[in-house]
Parts: sequence; C-alpha cells; structure tokens
Amino acid sequence: MFGEGNPVADIMLVGEQPGDREDLAGKPFVGPAGAVLDRALEQAGIDRSDVYVTNAVKHFRWEQRGKRRIHKKPTVRQINACRPWLDEEIAVTQPKLIVCLGATAARALLGAQFRLTQHRGEIVEGDGLPPMTATIHPSAVLRAEDDDREDQMAGLISDLRSAAEYVNARRVSAAG
Ligand code: URA
Repeated sequence: MFGEGNPVADIMLVGEQPGDREDLAGKPFVGPAGAVLDRALEQAGIDRSDVYVTNAVKHFRWEQRGKRRIHKKPTVRQINACRPWLDEEIAVTQPKLIVCLGATAARALLGAQFRLTQHRGEIVEGDGLPPMTATIHPSAVLRAEDDDREDQMAGLISDLRSAAEYVNARRVSAAG
C-alpha cells in the first residue's frame, strides 16, 4: 500500500506497516493508531492534509487469532524489501523533513544502530536523504499504561511540534 497526502509535503511521516483497518481501506493510519496520530497532529498545529503519510513496510503482516488478524512485527528482510518503494515516495515528494514514527521506520531509514530511546527528536542529516528525525509510534500511546498514556501523548505532540518548527524555520530562511 502506498502512502497518502500532499505530494509535495514539507513533512513526510513514516509508520511501520498498514494495520488491519488500513489494509482493508487501502489507506495509511485510518485505524486506532491513526486516530491517535490525527489528535497529535492537531495538537501540534499540523494539518494532516499538508503532510504525506506512509509506511516503511507496504503490506500488513498478520497472524490469525480466532476471527481476528493480529499484527506481527515485520522482519528486517521485509523492511529492506520495501525500501525501494519508500525511496521512490521520498524522491517524488522531496520533503524537508522525514519523521519516523517508531522503531521500524527508524530502522528502515536511520539504520540498525539508531536507538529511538536515546536519539528521539534529534535531526539527522546525510546519506542523500532529506533531514530525518524519529519519535514514538502512535500505537505506543495506545499500549501505554493508563498512568503513562498522557505523558506518551504529550511527548509525541511535542516531537511533532518540533518537526513543524524545524520546517517552518527552513521555509522562512529560504524565503528571506
Ligand atoms: N500503524 C502503522 O505503522 N501504519 C499504519 O498505517 C497504521 C498503523
């Protein structure tokens, strides 16, 4: 499944892989994690229609449990196999900043050495790709314990706000 959004977006958001709802709809982040992402974007002052939203892995990997299709983490091989499509999306969109949502996207674009816990929110440049940064995946907010959920959400919003500030600052300096 391809991404969706503004084809000339300043910000590209990269998730892990489509979930059950996304697989059925053919669109990224339209299920429960998408609802968290939408709320976080709104709180960060980012209009979803201004960004391009996609995934590192282009298919839903799942296992059957009863009637439900349960998410399974993609393998490194699957991440690598999908990389050419992601590269094409980046080449066409040419975002000013790529925001990796969670460890899978960070692994795909920032490499196996990158540690989200240590380097989240930092801007990484180099390797012929646009500047990149990483934050938590919206589903981490859903998975958080009740007493931690608000903090996780606040962190996601704050990282997205910093991403918006970064591209806005570059837009201003490009214009001036
Ligand atoms: N989680 C993701 O990483 N991507 C989606 O599109 C939906 C849920």
